[in-house]
Amino acid sequence: MSDDRLIVAMDVPDALQGLALAEQLGDLVSFYKIGLGMLTSGGLALANELKQDHGKRIFLDMKLFDISATIEAAVRGIARFDLDFLTVHGDPHVVNAAKQASGNTKILAVTILTSLDRADLDAAMILPGDVPQIVVDRAARALTAGADGVIASPNEAAAIRALPEAQGKLIVTPGVRPAGSASGDQKRIATPAAAIAAGADHIVVGRPVWAAPAPRAAAEAILAELQSPQARQPNH
Ligand code: C5P
Repeated sequence: MSDDRLIVAMDVPDALQGLALAEQLGDLVSFYKIGLGMLTSGGLALANELKQDHGKRIFLDMKLFDISATIEAAVRGIARFDLDFLTVHGDPHVVNAAKQASGNTKILAVTILTSLDRADLDAAMILPGDVPQIVVDRAARALTAGADGVIASPNEAAAIRALPEAQGKLIVTPGVRPAGSASGDQKRIATPAAAIAAGADHIVVGRPVWAAPAPRAAAEAILAELQSPQARQPNH
């Protein structure tokens, strides 16, 4: 049984392999994330095909950042594909410009990339302070600027969910690992059930599904976990 709380990140090299993965997963998975890695190898065409011909929901993970006029033009072009989610950086001017042009596509804001630590932020001259607190502050500012939701690690989801600005907004968490699967380069991880219990509306899972020896079985196990009583959102 499919459950659109599970978004499978299609970080395979090209659109043909993405299509093969979607065909293999069939009705089990209804929501896919397509990212920058596939942009130059058919990613947008694949997004369109999965949406129009296979009835899938699509999250286009572009993490856009530019001056307002360019963001508006880029988002207007993407909105013609009528996809479901699109990421932009959480700076208020970027979110605001994206919302002017997004049509039915929901705009999700990226706060601080989870690969960056305090030393990286110092090097980039980003204001001092605790990284988790900056993430929550940036989430609040992006939501106030009109973002439909934010991307957050499972560790930050609860603090963002508690913000008044987050009422009725989406929290989408990558960094999710079913118990027993390899963490890969993800540092701050949680299980699917724990991420939902922390306040996530959707979890993004990549390698534990697409790189698994049996992707269908891997997806089935995650979907079963999402049905467990532990996978209940706090305010639902
Ligand atoms: O394979 P894995 O489950 O780690 O994939 C997670 C996906 O979520 C990847 O596509 C990665 O680019 C994306 N992502 C992330 N952390 C963020 C934002 C996006 O892992 N902060």
